[in-house]
Amino acid sequence: MMVIRTQINPLISALNGLIWLVGISVLLILTGLFYLNSEYENPDPIAEQSTIRTVESPKRQSLTPVQLKGKDLFVANCGQCHEVTDGVLVGPGLLGVSLRVPSQQWLVDWIKNPSAVVGSGDVYARAIVKKFAPVVMPGFSNLSEKDINAIIDYINTHESVGGAFTM
Ligand code: HEC
Repeated sequence: MMVIRTQINPLISALNGLIWLVGISVLLILTGLFYLNSEYENPDPIAEQSTIRTVESPKRQSLTPVQLKGKDLFVANCGQCHEVTDGVLVGPGLLGVSLRVPSQQWLVDWIKNPSAVVGSGDVYARAIVKKFAPVVMPGFSNLSEKDINAIIDYINTHESVGGAFTM
């Protein structure tokens, strides 16, 4: 009896050890796979952007039809690079932009064809392009003057009150 036990015991404990080893390895591999597939390792860039762009204006109902059109055009064409706050995204935040650019006509010309405005030697245009280099804003020759004015109208429904920003 004693003889058998001393022969089997080492075998059993070796097997036990092996089972544990395999079990732990499988667990480690599974955790590793889960980590590699997780959002933490592979953040979805589109999901991240859309959280920025889906901010809804609480005052949407009070926007005029022209401003609503401007909002839709802004979201479709400008929102990936611009905030309507003073926050910088790819380009400058557009809060109060009408007050700092040379004129309303300048805004229309710029949005239609920024490089033409820069090429004309415009001092303001040259300064912002330099500030945001190497990114250059694309032109929107497809937008009519009416569309552009609607976008600007929408942008200008935003204001900052006592340093705080209102939608
Ligand atoms: C691909 C990114 C991008 C898109 C899309 C874009 N912009 Fe821009 N915008 C910029 C950058 C960058 C600048 C800074 C000047 C430069 O480097 O060209 C700028 C500058 C401006 C300025 C001058 C801002 C200031 O502070 O004087 C206005 C106004 C403007 N954009 C309006 C618009 C509007 C309206 C649209 C949509 C129709 C639009 N942008 C789409 C990137 C973009």
